[in-house]
Amino acid sequence: MSVIPSTPTSTCSAPAPLLHSRPRVESARTEGPALPAVVGAELQVPTLSGGTTYANLDHAASTPALVAAKEAVDRALETYASVHRGAGHASRLTSAWYEQARAQVAEFVGARADDSVVFTRTTTDSWALLSSALPAATTVFVFASEHHSTLLPWGDDRTVRLPVPRSVEEARSLLGAALARARSVDRDGERLVVVTAASNVTGEVWPIEELARVARVHGARIAVDAAQLSGHRPIDLAGWDVDYVAFSGHKTYAPFGAGVLAGRSDWLDAGTPYLRGGGATRTVGEHGTSWATGPARHEGGSPNVIGAIALAAACATIARHREAIEAHEARLLARLRNGLRSIEGVEQLSAFGDGHDRVGVVAFTVRGLEPSLVSQVLSVEHGIGVRDGRFCAHLLVDDLLADARVTGDTLPGGGLATAVRASIGLGTTVEAVDRLIGAVRELVEAGPAATWSRGDTGWVVSGNDPRDREVARPW
Ligand SMILES: Cc1ncc(COP(=O)(O)O)c(C=O)c1O
Repeated sequence: MSVIPSTPTSTCSAPAPLLHSRPRVESARTEGPALPAVVGAELQVPTLSGGTTYANLDHAASTPALVAAKEAVDRALETYASVHRGAGHASRLTSAWYEQARAQVAEFVGARADDSVVFTRTTTDSWALLSSALPAATTVFVFASEHHSTLLPWGDDRTVRLPVPRSVEEARSLLGAALARARSVDRDGERLVVVTAASNVTGEVWPIEELARVARVHGARIAVDAAQLSGHRPIDLAGWDVDYVAFSGHKTYAPFGAGVLAGRSDWLDAGTPYLRGGGATRTVGEHGTSWATGPARHEGGSPNVIGAIALAAACATIARHREAIEAHEARLLARLRNGLRSIEGVEQLSAFGDGHDRVGVVAFTVRGLEPSLVSQVLSVEHGIGVRDGRFCAHLLVDDLLADARVTGDTLPGGGLATAVRASIGLGTTVEAVDRLIGAVRELVEAGPAATWSRGDTGWVVSGNDPRDREVARPW
């Protein structure tokens, strides 16, 4: 059933913006075909010298919203009502859109006809769901390089942790050997490999199809963390021959609180319902509860229909602009990597080496400068948004920075080894990349423009610190 109005019913006005920002029309941010527009592309941010356009190099954390996702939300809100249990027209419409969103996401991830698509909150939530639904005596195999959300949910007692591999061949052989060992000890137990499609530290794309083949040889299933892939490259459950995929709306230009777990329905239909409550049951009687199968089993309570609709709109838009998005990001990534490479003392983190395929995520260190200072200077002096730290992938960052830690290059003040991460996407322009490269070069050659000192809670800058400026609430 589908009753979708053919034209938008309203242009819902947004709350007063925090800082000046306006949606941008479809345009090319690098030369080439038109890219889908994002909300806040012209965001003005305060800096020490007044203000400038925000240089968004933080897409690996969260992407801005696509205008298409925001517009879908605005339209859906006009008829917003309960999902699945209402008889009224608005409920029927909202319910239809919720299920159509599920179908759109299924297409986006290349799902098989009998796969389940469950709406969750995030990738973290998707893995918590899958973990709770695993058959008893399942052994889970993960590389130490995973994001903590993918490394930790399975429980120490049933997880086999593999070392950080330094090549695709090593990843394959580490996994093959571990699976063979497990099989020789327990032939019948279930085995699940969980692996990222693209690293949130190095951007390196993992050899999913090859690892899926290794898993199959040993009778294991494989689940793919597509959190860093979903906004940038295609996901293909069936084509990759993998069993599950998880990703997050807020990293897919749809920051409205929806995530996805998609894949084989047998374990999901047999597993413990993730959210026990209304909507997840068939019947409830004095003597027991009969639980639903299918996505409903794990989506108890009123689902986040607005999040699902936003995510579906983003998926449809990304799929339509696939070529332009990939070309834009490839161009920016090459420019970013080459620019950073040309600066003395800047090292880019990598597990698989320079020539390996990667999405637009680059973690780097600057000799003699603490990453936390670098990221603060970039923001406060230049209006650039990056991130510093260990990016919820402590084992990977520790491993990749081991040499720097030994020499003390990265950490004049001691403490944990960290890095700076710049990540690109639809909200990144050529100018933003060039500004970052210019700012890092200036830092290396001349130091910060302002005077910085270390305070109790972080770096303190002399002068009129823009971080202290009060801004109006958006509500
Ligand atoms: C590779 C990877 N996996 C999982 C996650 C967790 O995503 P979320 O915070 O949306 O649950 C992230 C978030 O940064 C990530 O980069």
